[in-house]
Amino acid sequence: MNALNQFIPDTEPERQFYFIEKASELIKRQAKENGKPLTYFIQTFGCQMNSRDSEKLAGILEKVGYVPCEEEDKADFVIYNTCSIRENANTRVYGRLGHLNAIKKKRKSLKIALCGCMMQEPDEIEKVRTQFKFVDIVFGTHNIFKLAELIFNSFEAEGTIIDIWKDTDKIVEDIPNVRKYPFKSGVNITFGCNNFCTYCIVPYVRGRERSREPKEIIREVERFVADGVKEVMLLGQNVNSYGKNLDNPITFAELINAVANVEGLERVRFMTPHPKDLSDELIDVIAANKKICRHIHLPLQSGSSRILKAMNRRYTKEGYLALVDKIRTKLPDVALTTDIIVGFPGETEEDFNDTIDVVRKAEFDSAFTFIYSKRIGTPAAVMDNQIPEEVTKERFSRLLAVVNECATKRCGLDRGKTLPVLVEDVNEQNPELLTGRLSNNTLVHFAGSKELIGQIVNVKLNESKGFYYLGEKE
Ligand code: SAH
Ligand code: SF4
Ligand code: F3S
Repeated sequence: MNALNQFIPDTEPERQFYFIEKASELIKRQAKENGKPLTYFIQTFGCQMNSRDSEKLAGILEKVGYVPCEEEDKADFVIYNTCSIRENANTRVYGRLGHLNAIKKKRKSLKIALCGCMMQEPDEIEKVRTQFKFVDIVFGTHNIFKLAELIFNSFEAEGTIIDIWKDTDKIVEDIPNVRKYPFKSGVNITFGCNNFCTYCIVPYVRGRERSREPKEIIREVERFVADGVKEVMLLGQNVNSYGKNLDNPITFAELINAVANVEGLERVRFMTPHPKDLSDELIDVIAANKKICRHIHLPLQSGSSRILKAMNRRYTKEGYLALVDKIRTKLPDVALTTDIIVGFPGETEEDFNDTIDVVRKAEFDSAFTFIYSKRIGTPAAVMDNQIPEEVTKERFSRLLAVVNECATKRCGLDRGKTLPVLVEDVNEQNPELLTGRLSNNTLVHFAGSKELIGQIVNVKLNESKGFYYLGEKE
């Protein structure tokens, strides 16, 4: 260890504050040479957790002195925060990297980093190492808090810096972050996943499940509220298992109740509850607290008990439908949405018809439908009876038709009512209109000035247009 190293703290987050300081000296010097600040661009490829991670990356980048840049081609530092849930997510990243390489050939100072779930796959790392040597920094899902240290090192060293952790039992709190929206934010409650659904890569790339301490979560929500946040979304791969392994165990229902009671917070959402262990306690807490949004995303995956077993989902068709019944009875105003996979290995026409049957019976408000994608390293990838693409595609379009039919039945149920809308943005198609969301997550467009963005206003839902309403402000 040299003299300088002696001053590097070895506890977190102190170590990162040290490197934020060091990196910002380098960035400041560089900016002075360039005569303008250095800029960054982050592309998020994955889910809500991935987006939240990007906010943490942005927080660190801004602390070390980078400023945001809208245009990827002009930024000094480009980060791809990758996703590996399905094959096409991976393919997209490599396509975009080719383009970045062309830019870097013209502009050597461009820094490129890859991080996120794909980088936790050894095969992908090998590919980056051998075919994408122009990438400067590669890190994974467990060490995003280290970005300042990695940036500092990459300014000091030649070649690609690769820092991947296999897993971690650490949760590093208090690293800076910036929010994409001033008025709403995701809040991590658990990291990782222990469920090992047989098709899914997440447990391998996000590691074992870890819960944050409730007091850390509440403290973060309170800070957000003081900073203007109206709505938070509690994030975990299965929020229902939150808190079970803490030294002082607490249930998800208790946590969400405590979050909902944070003074000044208007709305709480959550994603994702697993159907195998969604508790009566949770349903009761939702029923009793109007701040908890009327939306439950309850991934079905398949309606066939046989396929569910092969998927290791740990519920049956009947169990799922009974849960839906309970939810619809106790929470009549809730919107129920789902995820469905078509073409899991061994899926027969009969299995597929069970899926269609559940969709009709549950009458989902909407559904994300996916074609099964083989993920190397998962148990399903080596199962017999992989389904031919044409069969899957044909089933997929039949499923889509039924999903749309059910969504049409459900949408428009609130027509004529006046309901609170959190205003999120100016409408993309028509700048005279604003766009916001109901408690049940349905989109509403209405005329209004952009000062209303970030506020909750009452809107009369005049017209239903399928998946959204046209309304007018009261
Ligand atoms: N933890 C969440 C799911 C996160 S992944 C849960 O259990 O519900 C989001 C969705 O991607 C899943 O619900 C599933 O429908 C889909 N998915 C995951 N792995 C997939 C694969 N290999 N092929 C196709 N879709 C997949
Ligand atoms: Fe994947 Fe299943 Fe975990 Fe969801 S619960 S992340 S589908 S393994
Ligand atoms: Fe999310 Fe994709 Fe990773 S869905 S957890 S970013 S594999």
